[in-house]
Amino acid sequence: MTQDQQLFSTHNEFRSDTFTVPTQSMIASVAFATFGDSVYKEDQDTLDLESKVARLTGKESTLFCSSGTMSNQIGLRAHLFQPPHRILCDYRGHVYAHEAGGLATLCQAMVTPVIPSNGLYLTLEDIIDNYIPDDGDIHMAPTKVVSLENTIHGIITPLEEIERISYWCKENNVKLHLDGARLWNASAETGISMFEYCQFFDSVSLCLSKSLGAPFGSILLV
Ligand SMILES: Cc1ncc(COP(=O)(O)O)c(C=O)c1O
Repeated sequence: MTQDQQLFSTHNEFRSDTFTVPTQSMIASVAFATFGDSVYKEDQDTLDLESKVARLTGKESTLFCSSGTMSNQIGLRAHLFQPPHRILCDYRGHVYAHEAGGLATLCQAMVTPVIPSNGLYLTLEDIIDNYIPDDGDIHMAPTKVVSLENTIHGIITPLEEIERISYWCKENNVKLHLDGARLWNASAETGISMFEYCQFFDSVSLCLSKSLGAPFGSILLV
């Protein structure tokens, strides 16, 4: 098999988009990447990537992370202070089902995993029905964060639903996180820009290593 045939077959591997491989131009650019220290904010390529994604999404601050699990877990942890606290998400959410119990070990959070009543994606009504308010009841762990995923299992959550959820969260002092590992796909399919989607969230995690095909990496936006 030639290298081109190999690239073509891995780009058309339908078990998962995690099989995608870097394009030739990505591989070539790695050879000329900068080697500055990113803690000292001296790695120009990382800075350029972070500011490009900030411009694209309208977010104030961006952080390159080595994986989507890392950017989700940092994003969620940063919204939480002192337990008891709770995160509400779809029962299929990667943050809950596939991140090695990070919400328990790193966030010390209770989780409310919700089955969407429409069988597709979470709605505001699902959230309100499962919300635990911070009303001083010492028996409860109040809901401090709602975490959405878009796309979720290939399903796109409509922008109008995100907008309703976002306004409700703001009114109720609940932070809204997005696992946007595949937000690129939602944006390409709907024509809704990354900016329009991201404006409704307090934090967003975007994967570079899935359908975009980068060797690894994610970006956390706040
Ligand atoms: C929706 C979603 N979020 C987050 C991740 C985590 O990404 P990573 O494998 O880079 O940790 C994945 C990985 O498949 C995912 O599908």
